[in-house]
Amino acid sequence: MNRQTKAAILRAGIAAPSADNSQPWRFAWSGDDLDLRIDASRSGRVSDTRYVLSDLAAGACLENMIIYARSLGYVADLQTFPRDDDELWVARIRWHRDPECDPHEPLAGAIEQRHTDRRFPWRGPITTDMQARLDAQARLIPGQRLYWPQTPREKKTALNVIRQAETLRFRSPTLHAELFSSIRFAVGWHSACEEGLAPATLAVEPPMRPVFQALRRPSVMAMFNWLGAASVLGLRSAWLPIRLSPGLCLLVIPSTARSDVLAGGRALQRVWLEATLAGLSVQPYAAAGILSLGFVPVEPVFQRPLARLSSALGALCAPGHGLVFLRLGHAGSASRDRSGRRGLASFGDFQ
Ligand SMILES: Cc1cc2nc3c(=O)[nH]c(=O)nc-3n(C[C@H](O)[C@H](O)[C@H](O)COP(=O)(O)O)c2cc1C
Repeated sequence: MNRQTKAAILRAGIAAPSADNSQPWRFAWSGDDLDLRIDASRSGRVSDTRYVLSDLAAGACLENMIIYARSLGYVADLQTFPRDDDELWVARIRWHRDPECDPHEPLAGAIEQRHTDRRFPWRGPITTDMQARLDAQARLIPGQRLYWPQTPREKKTALNVIRQAETLRFRSPTLHAELFSSIRFAVGWHSACEEGLAPATLAVEPPMRPVFQALRRPSVMAMFNWLGAASVLGLRSAWLPIRLSPGLCLLVIPSTARSDVLAGGRALQRVWLEATLAGLSVQPYAAAGILSLGFVPVEPVFQRPLARLSSALGALCAPGHGLVFLRLGHAGSASRDRSGRRGLASFGDFQ
């Protein structure tokens, strides 16, 4: 592999999504072997204890690289979590040319287009054909599947579980601190940034922006919470957009073993790329699934509601663990506000 090919594979990798745009990836080449590691300085925060969010992002990054390399005629021999005593080492990928490999890889064309869209309302329909296409992409990764709430009762439960989890992100001081620390208010409401969440990507209505920005202070958030602000924010950030969108599905992983979470990230990415090819907009909602796993150290006062949330989610999609909801639909126009990426050189030493 020449340098340009290696760089192009890594660029495909870093186009992947990551929670809060943390981009928690490190790369190292030895010959044509590539090591993918989790970046210790960009992982392990409160919601990422046990690296669930980082493993999902690593899986998405891995899948992007595999898809892109395949379009160039390379296949990957994959060894995941090569060493038990090195929890940050996610995968070693051995690339080789395979004359049998069919380089026709339509998903490769969606790698740069895929992005998170937080606007609403979106139009439908999400046809059963479309659902089947997305299901098929998830199932290409062994053990992974999508769950689609069908009945009004299932839809209501899913919506409530998501709303409650999103509300908790504003109510719990621990989660509030984590959420607001990833928003780069310094860049203003109209610019992009290369790491973290640019305010422009959050789709906050202009009149609400000063209030939202003021809520980054714990004391202001606590005061507004007396007036029910967390519930209003849960309604606005989750309930309303989902009610006004035609599609909602949930990525379900078979177990919380890190290899299954990594595989979940791969499936998530395949589904998202397929949705992008079909012209769909996508917004993930991860709080309900992540908080339900019971790994996130929230304040004791929130543990009982969290246990209820966890059992409601478990009953909805059993067997397995529902990890990331995806809101889907057709936006009327392309979204202008996109998250940036750091320069490639910051992801490792490539000399
Ligand atoms: C594991 C994971 C969890 C995410 N959770 C959320 C979420 O709860 N809400 C949300 O709006 N976006 C969520 N995102 C989307 C990221 O914020 C987004 O991927 C990142 O900002 C980069 O932007 P891009 O997807 O447009 O490239 C999540 C992404 C991943 C991979």
